[in-house]
Amino acid sequence: MASENRLAGQVALITGGGGEIGTAIALRLASEGSGVVIGDLDPQKAEETAQKVIAQGGRASSTGVDVSDPLACEAAVAVAMKSFQKLTTLVNVAATVIPDGTVETLSLEQWNKALSVNLTGAFLMCKYGVPHMRAAGGGAIINIASQLGHMGVQGRSPYCTTKAALIFFTKILAQDHAHDNIRANSISPGFILTERSSKRVGGKDKARVINGPRHLLNRPGEPEEIAAGAAFLASSDASFITGTDLLIDGGYVTFKGRMTPEGKAVML
Ligand SMILES: NC(=O)c1ccc[n+]([C@@H]2O[C@H](COP(=O)([O-])OP(=O)(O)OC[C@H]3O[C@@H](n4cnc5c(N)ncnc54)[C@H](O)[C@@H]3O)[C@@H](O)[C@H]2O)c1
Repeated sequence: MASENRLAGQVALITGGGGEIGTAIALRLASEGSGVVIGDLDPQKAEETAQKVIAQGGRASSTGVDVSDPLACEAAVAVAMKSFQKLTTLVNVAATVIPDGTVETLSLEQWNKALSVNLTGAFLMCKYGVPHMRAAGGGAIINIASQLGHMGVQGRSPYCTTKAALIFFTKILAQDHAHDNIRANSISPGFILTERSSKRVGGKDKARVINGPRHLLNRPGEPEEIAAGAAFLASSDASFITGTDLLIDGGYVTFKGRMTPEGKAVML
């Protein structure tokens, strides 16, 4: 349950904020009192999220941003500063989808695309965001990684590699900016029921059946469960947490198996 003012005085810039997890994060942070700036490759989706925030009584603005483009990242931070005159929180959610393949079938272009959006995107947003966060007296960086940054999956080397690197990048960010009072943490979601993740198995209903049992809790997660973790990490409740990765994965990484309908864990 969101506490009304836990994030009062904060301003968060959320990339990938037009997507499902990004939208849930924006709504949750705003519901706890943060101003939110929604950035997305698709400016229309970013604006739709901002309108949802405003409709629930929150404060929001939006901007188009391609996080692989340094000038666009700098401009997105400028929009946040123009909208709210400060920046305290950076939530890097944006990630790209690359077709499955191996080193033989994937092109260099595809490999580089994954790196430039999933990893360099977070680097660039931090590069332009950190000076303003420092000027605000500190804040929190939250990078959305993945359970697949912990456990590799056949055919998805660009995604798994960039997410693993994002977890490690976050640990160094935490070291580099602790003295600026900036905490940096990542979140590794399990399988979260979104259009993007469900598409590979043919929709959300199928994803519930196929991917649910891969979690100890025997179900996929919901975007709101990731948002709850992001709000916690942004808040002073996490004041002694930096450099960590928060698995919000229903126990996915804990075991390599499937749950039976009766809730019994069967090892594979
Ligand atoms: N859904 C899951 O099961 C799951 C599991 C683990 C991690 N994640 C991570 O959570 C995040 C959100 O996933 P989602 O399921 O909500 O996906 P989504 O597709 O709904 O959201 C991703 C958003 O990122 C935006 N984006 C793509 N490229 C961009 C770029 N270059 N610059 C700016 N924005 C860009 C897209 O337009 C989209 O709105 C991703 O980082 C994903 O890797 C998701």
